[in-house]
Amino acid sequence: VPALALGLLGCGAIPGAGSPAVPVVEQEFSQPLAIPPLAPSRIEDGVRVFSLTAQEGERSFAPATEPGAATRTWGFDGEFLGPTLRAQRGERVAVEVENRLDERTSVHWHGMHLPAAMDGGPHQEVEPGGSWRPEWSIDQPAATLWYHPHPHGETEAHVHRGLAGLFILDDDASAAAALPSEYGVDDVPLIVQDRSFDEEGQFVLDQDGAEPGELGDTVMANGTVGAVHEVTTERIRLRLLNGSTARTYRFAVPGHELTMIAGDGGFLDAPLPLESLRLAPGERAEVLLRMAPGETARLRSEEVDLGGVLLPGANGGGDAFDVLELRAADSLAPSPEPAWPTAADAEADALHEEDAVTTREFELNGREINGERMDMGRIDEVVRVGDTEIWEVRSTQAIPHSFHVHDVQFRVLSVDGSPPPPELAGPKDTVYLEPQRRYRLLMRFEDYADPDTPYMYHCHMLLHEDEGMMGQFTVVEPADGPSEPGRGGAQE
Ligand code: C2O
Ligand code: CU
Repeated sequence: VPALALGLLGCGAIPGAGSPAVPVVEQEFSQPLAIPPLAPSRIEDGVRVFSLTAQEGERSFAPATEPGAATRTWGFDGEFLGPTLRAQRGERVAVEVENRLDERTSVHWHGMHLPAAMDGGPHQEVEPGGSWRPEWSIDQPAATLWYHPHPHGETEAHVHRGLAGLFILDDDASAAAALPSEYGVDDVPLIVQDRSFDEEGQFVLDQDGAEPGELGDTVMANGTVGAVHEVTTERIRLRLLNGSTARTYRFAVPGHELTMIAGDGGFLDAPLPLESLRLAPGERAEVLLRMAPGETARLRSEEVDLGGVLLPGANGGGDAFDVLELRAADSLAPSPEPAWPTAADAEADALHEEDAVTTREFELNGREINGERMDMGRIDEVVRVGDTEIWEVRSTQAIPHSFHVHDVQFRVLSVDGSPPPPELAGPKDTVYLEPQRRYRLLMRFEDYADPDTPYMYHCHMLLHEDEGMMGQFTVVEPADGPSEPGRGGAQE
């Protein structure tokens, strides 16, 4: 065993866990929080049409960089990140995607139920100078979804340079809800990401094999380092996205209770009071926070417990830092008691365990799922349209993963045979896998049979994804597909 590894073991790290800790540098909180603009759209033949152009740019990340430094970035319709798309359940939408970069990229609609050919994964890459126009109908509950590139083997690099944005869905339940809902004022999108900068102020992406991937020493919200948001209402709603490539957060506002109202794919059944909330890469949550007139509070990321272990070096022990400062005005406008109706569609969207026709098993280890790395030419799983299934997923090693399935919102049935913690109770598309634990996920493949175009499932720690921790599944008509699971099926 090399000396370095012995040293790590000596200080309590887990073998294979990798690099030394990357402590986050505390910044001065003085920059107004950037709010991603709402994307304009037009209605054309009954379709709400957006456009998104991936392009290069430059931006200052002071105070993390020298005031004069211009960091080279990528963004959609701007220099960094992208506008917030927003649409209503029942609407038909299209997005005119243009690639003005000199590399191929793609735009994936994370959390969206839509045909595989519109999904924006590695089979829908857009050439430099090219364009792509996916079109689909919004048919799922109100939620905070997002979009980001998904080109084969390059997802980490493209997201790291700045390509990502939110896609907010509304429905009757969200329209009738008593919740803070003024975008950018008391309904605040928060894309949380980490970066490191070199001496010239450029992003550093080492890809030196450290686990769980590149961890930056600077944390930003919507691209703002040391961000401050002025609060003008008694309650504020934060739409949190962990848009980092590798880092997991445990969000809290010390001295305040958070009220979680929604997870990845929509509202919880009831408001859930929490002290803190862990979000792995790709996960979202909507939380409410109550503030007193004149007070200042900070959104903080606490030490992340990786599931029974505090893992130095992989974004665990000793790793706590502030993300955003909230400054309440001396007099605050009243906010409603949080409430939302049960959506009329709730029953149609509900999943029932007794409907499950099969169980598939997925073991994540190293860069492999069930012993194989991603192969664009191999379909790993074939599911039948309309089927409800259970996917049993486990990290079989000492490090966590962040498991994401395209096309569906699933329900976490159990973790190692026990009911999941309440924050995992809502609809989800991404789940943090604590090491060695077995997660049973219930999902239904509702529509859109297409035997030729696969959807992806993968780890959302993007280095893991890029290096092979991804598989492909197709949804087929019952006549075309096996009722038994394929490769990687249940093996009790
Ligand atoms: Cu957010 Cu397959 O990705
Ligand atoms: Cu992983």
